[in-house]
Amino acid sequence: MTERFITSTLNKRDAARENALRPPKFADFPGQERAKEQLELFVQAAKARGEALDHILLCGPPGLGKTTLAYIIANERGTNLKSSSGPAIEKPGDLAGLLTALEPGDVLFIDEIHRLNSTVEEYLYSAMEDFFIDIMIEQGAGARSVRLNVPQFTLIGATTRQGMISSPLRSRFGLNIRLDYYDVESLSRILTRSAGILNIEIDPEGAREIAGRCRGTPRIANNLLRRARDYAQVRADAVITGPVAAEALAMLQIDSDGLDEMDIRLLETIVVNFRGGPVGLKNIAVSVGEEEDSIEEVYEPFLIQKGYLVRTPKGRVATPKAWRKLGLSPLRDDGGQPELF
Ligand SMILES: Nc1ncnc2c1ncn2[C@@H]1O[C@H](COP(=O)(O)OP(=O)(O)O)[C@@H](O)[C@H]1O
Ligand SMILES: [Mg+2]
Repeated sequence: MTERFITSTLNKRDAARENALRPPKFADFPGQERAKEQLELFVQAAKARGEALDHILLCGPPGLGKTTLAYIIANERGTNLKSSSGPAIEKPGDLAGLLTALEPGDVLFIDEIHRLNSTVEEYLYSAMEDFFIDIMIEQGAGARSVRLNVPQFTLIGATTRQGMISSPLRSRFGLNIRLDYYDVESLSRILTRSAGILNIEIDPEGAREIAGRCRGTPRIANNLLRRARDYAQVRADAVITGPVAAEALAMLQIDSDGLDEMDIRLLETIVVNFRGGPVGLKNIAVSVGEEEDSIEEVYEPFLIQKGYLVRTPKGRVATPKAWRKLGLSPLRDDGGQPELF
């Protein structure tokens, strides 16, 4: 059930809900202070010089605000934003179509930029650097290339997989921003703001409870807020207090540390089936019945950040904290079986 919250591809209804909660300005965007400071400065400087912004790469797990920031940047710079995604740009012609439709200074946002195919990616290089692309027309003997000039634009790329960005592409971005999981304080502010927009009554303890159990992710926080509202309306008197939030989250099988069903399944697999690891990603994926990509992009980063898991050259290893989380004591060095506490 929480899986639906953290996919990076949203259906139309979910996308509309998200748009309603997207802050339009840096000032309404709590958290990510370091990234925000860099971006604000970057935008102000470009504005003062009357120049187009240099290209920006935004990296980080799903739901942390990459798309939101892209819109904020365009908004604060006072330009339009055209949005596409890596898999949607199949041919150089698709890219040419996008680029030639831009006005000078516009932002082209390419989500999941690590999924651009390599042909399109090469065409993008000259566009980013020198604002032209050479497109081949005709095939065989009549083949010739035609140079298309494109307006000075700003590319904002977003990716959940920084490691999958080739170095020639990476080097063409003037600014490389990494988003991290949010702290409870920032998430509480996000939740309070969202509650105001959605007309949901939540008290500070309620906000704090959800903030501490949403995997540090605003998208999940906002979704849990809606679920907690349903719960509060039916089981309490429509106000999300601390205890009401805690009951709602327990019903959604989110534990007190914010781990969801899949997090627990992953840890259980490594600890119980593979005696704590090291175990390869493929084996984990097969055991839990989840795609390797989403394990790597969505689940692992959080579990690693929280100290439940480490990546080693031989595979994933569960830390003692993971064993204890499952009520087990870490495997003894002599290979003895783990014991229940
Ligand atoms: N710092 C923030 N403040 C307020 N809302 C946020 C913040 N970061 C993300 N959100 C909200 O969370 C949801 C997901 O954010 P989004 O930008 O789509 O994430 P990403 O593109 O990184 O997957 C959106 O509804 C967005 O408004
Ligand atoms: Mg996005």
